[in-house]
Amino acid sequence: SSSQATSSDGFLQCLSASGIPSQLVFTQSSPSFTPLLKSSIRNPKFFTPSIVRPLYIVTPTNASHVQAAVLCGRRNGMRIRVRSGGHDYEGLSYRSEHAEVFTVLDLSNLRAVRVDTQTSTAWVDSGATLGELYYAVGKASNVLGFPAGLCPTVGIGGHFSGGGFGMLLRKYGLAIDNVLDAVLVDARGRLLSKTTMGSDVFWAIRGGGGESFGVVLSWQVRLVAVPPTVTVFNLPVSASQGAVDVVTRWQQVAPALPDDLFIRVLVQQQTANFQSLFLGTCDALLPVMSSRFPELRWFNRSFCKEMTWIQSVPYIYLGSGSTVEDLLNRTTSAAVFSSGYKATSDYVRQAIPRDVWATIFAKLAQPNAGLMILDPYGAQAAAVPESSTPFPHRAGVLYNIQYMNFWSMAGSDGSVQTKWIRDFYAFMAPYVSSNPREAYFNYRDLDLGENVVVGNVSSYQAGMVWGQKYFRGNYQRLAMVKAEIDPDDYFRNEQSIPPLPKSK
Ligand code: FDA
Repeated sequence: SSSQATSSDGFLQCLSASGIPSQLVFTQSSPSFTPLLKSSIRNPKFFTPSIVRPLYIVTPTNASHVQAAVLCGRRNGMRIRVRSGGHDYEGLSYRSEHAEVFTVLDLSNLRAVRVDTQTSTAWVDSGATLGELYYAVGKASNVLGFPAGLCPTVGIGGHFSGGGFGMLLRKYGLAIDNVLDAVLVDARGRLLSKTTMGSDVFWAIRGGGGESFGVVLSWQVRLVAVPPTVTVFNLPVSASQGAVDVVTRWQQVAPALPDDLFIRVLVQQQTANFQSLFLGTCDALLPVMSSRFPELRWFNRSFCKEMTWIQSVPYIYLGSGSTVEDLLNRTTSAAVFSSGYKATSDYVRQAIPRDVWATIFAKLAQPNAGLMILDPYGAQAAAVPESSTPFPHRAGVLYNIQYMNFWSMAGSDGSVQTKWIRDFYAFMAPYVSSNPREAYFNYRDLDLGENVVVGNVSSYQAGMVWGQKYFRGNYQRLAMVKAEIDPDDYFRNEQSIPPLPKSK
């Protein structure tokens, strides 16, 4: 709760006096308010009547609108939550866990992508989706790509500011490892670039979560080289075929493969699905597979699908019937919107023994069980020093685990599926990283801990509980940067970085 009284009328008057057109400001009584709020929500469990919604939604069309919204917000005690793609696992870009008056700044109008093939760079606005970025890169060149997440509707703003990884992770690192410049509006309403925000803030917004430091409007990225032909394969191995053994072996193999080969595993029910992107032809892949991963003995030429990198993006995430144009589709399909989910994550630094994998498979066969996605690290992901970016899960990490469980919103409140995830997470504790038990910030989970506000400022001590899981030793530096750029803790949510004043 805020100790400063909120003047919601004063906020609206200030927006209007600052020149923000009224058609970009939506109050709860506007007929467009609910469709707009819903437009990018990816977890419909945060679209029910008991959820704390914003009082207003503002949809800026240029940087000065964002600056004005921040200044008006501060003047009138109105907090702002920024939404780019709305994919936050806990919905923190558009809802509050506790009673609170706030406005959503929805950046979906700010979504330009400009590719420069001369310099192999691009400027992308935060309101663009990953699909829009990939599409623009693919249109400009068939030998350039970008290393970021798999899901095309994920927003650039949240994804880049929290890390961002996908099938190019081992070759080129995370999205943040390829950011060259950024434009930020801070809590004083200043419009800053890399040079003017300073190296600490530029460090913090590449993995520490943008929402703690301001509103990131756009990013300049380095595009990466991809060959004209890549090879994709998808190979299911059932438990009766020996999935337990193959997954056990995969833990050692996948993080040590040549960096142009990425093999992840989706474990669901009694099947391990090996999903792979290889930066080369099938002819080049075959000998690598037989020498490095002979345990995946079913693999042969018939599993290879050769295509361009840009074709591989919809193929891998949306399925074989999809097209490159589907990357531009921003709307939430009714099917996606009908199932709520709960997710969390772990990092594995020591391979999990075979007998534990046998138990894991047994647990995945239980009623209402969830699924696991195992993403291998190593290579370039591990080559970046742990303190170079806030994202600390570097050298020594074998792989990331994501746990997910889904339910139909029509028939269930998800309590059984959520409990399954929590029980499974507790079961996994002895086998994953510890002190701290690491988690990926972009797979946000409020079970890991929440801010405690003391004297209208989030507590640094209380934040350590969740902050060290996401950021390890980088949490303290993030809190020092926060104290520099937003000492009053204007930009905050349930898991924003608390300020740590220098004197402490
Ligand atoms: P959203 O708009 O909800 O924002 C997320 C957080 O960032 C919020 O706290 C918000 O306030 C803040 N924020 C957003 N824009 C900001 C801005 N411009 N300035 C400052 N703060 C801002 N991740 C991954 O690494 N690899 C993957 O393959 C996938 N795949 C995937 C699939 C699906 C279906 C989902 C739902 C999610 C993923 N993710 C992922 C996780 C994803 O990276 C994560 O949820 C991102 O934060 C989403 O960014 P959005 O902009 O969409 O979220």
